[in-house]
Amino acid sequence: MASQPDTLHLIGLLLGAEEDWPRAFEELLGRLGPIQAADGTKHEVTSQRLTIEPFDLRQEVRHDLVIDRLAYWYYHPREWLKKAALVNGTYLLNSPFTFQSMEKHSAYCAMLRLGLKVPETVLVPYKHPVDNARWAYTAAKYNRPFDLDAIAEKLGYPLFMKPFDGGGWRGVSKVRNRDELHLAYDESGEMLMHLQESIEGYDVFARSLTIGAETMVMHFRPELPMHDRYAVDHDFLTAETGSEVLAIARLINAFFRWEFNSCEVLVRGTEVHPIDYANACPDIAITSLHYYFPWAISALLKWSLFCTLTGRRPRLDLETAKYFEIADSQRSYAEKLTAYAALSEAYFQTERYRDFCATVLPDLDDVVAEWVASPQFDGLLVDTVRATYPQAEHDRFLGHFRGLLDIWRTDHPIRF
Ligand SMILES: Nc1ncnc2c1ncn2[C@@H]1O[C@H](COP(=O)(O)OP(=O)(O)O)[C@@H](O)[C@H]1O
Ligand SMILES: [Mg+2]
Repeated sequence: MASQPDTLHLIGLLLGAEEDWPRAFEELLGRLGPIQAADGTKHEVTSQRLTIEPFDLRQEVRHDLVIDRLAYWYYHPREWLKKAALVNGTYLLNSPFTFQSMEKHSAYCAMLRLGLKVPETVLVPYKHPVDNARWAYTAAKYNRPFDLDAIAEKLGYPLFMKPFDGGGWRGVSKVRNRDELHLAYDESGEMLMHLQESIEGYDVFARSLTIGAETMVMHFRPELPMHDRYAVDHDFLTAETGSEVLAIARLINAFFRWEFNSCEVLVRGTEVHPIDYANACPDIAITSLHYYFPWAISALLKWSLFCTLTGRRPRLDLETAKYFEIADSQRSYAEKLTAYAALSEAYFQTERYRDFCATVLPDLDDVVAEWVASPQFDGLLVDTVRATYPQAEHDRFLGHFRGLLDIWRTDHPIRF
């Protein structure tokens, strides 16, 4: 008779429309089976897809940890997450307190304060102010006329106009001249807009996906359709720039306590310019990530198990003073990045995480490699392609993704 586990753990999945990564996560968790912790205790970890229900603010929450891909746009479960974090101590990969209040604009401000090379950015007042009875008086008294052209000229053309809390390229326009400037501003309506210096002629667009203590820096090509945006490319940055990009992503994630986020930088020459650092709960679909999908799922699994089994506690306090002390010191830019890295590593418990993966999950990479080689994995790909693309394109996309995943299999052989 199999011995009983000492402890049962439950991971909640809060999902939107996606089916691929939750299925992958559940399948891998099942394949992994019971886990023996460093102290010899046996743990059984299962997952459950959460449904949206009325909830009492005092209600028990059975989940040790919740992975959320829904709350960034659907508010009822977002409020449940806040209750679970505050009342029940449930572990969440992204703090709902900071990711609701800290949008792109706050990330720019934090990065500026920390000394990073954010392009010149100006926030302008609403084109169409919010509908509020008090507005007429406030506008007459405080909303001074301003010279949009002068701001644009100071930044220089071309420039980007984009919402202060943007995401998914909503409302983003590249503005080349005065006419386009006024057109874009007129169309911005009730969105609050930044004007931002364009990083023209950049060499590389790098996108860093962070999942807990792991970060994958990927070569991103925004001009291509979604299935082609991530290039399978391991040498697109020099070692120095690569570690700078990594350090910046880990810094901003540690600063805001974001553990599942993607960050975008434009690299021109040796300069690294962060442009978009608040994409909590990013898309990790197999049809976007392809080659990097097995990495993302295993990182999500490892980090969830690390947090659950080691009893990692959520850190809701931001401790910004520690970061600002470094920012305000006499150190050079490179020295600051190194000092920030120590704070990031401490936040992510990187060493303890690595040790946990090596000792408690020694077989996980093999379980992932076997799973990616299995018919179940191909079945997942086939179902996702069928659900994502029109029928006439199924064969083309299946060929495309199977080819990219074959490269992953070659790079990650099953060890015996
Ligand atoms: N300052 C900039 N310089 C050059 N390109 C930019 C700049 N800002 C945005 N872009 C381009 O516009 C795209 C969308 O802007 P981004 O800030 O990432 O908005 P979103 O949050 O909607 O993704 C970027 O992926 C990039 O291609
Ligand atoms: Mg972006």
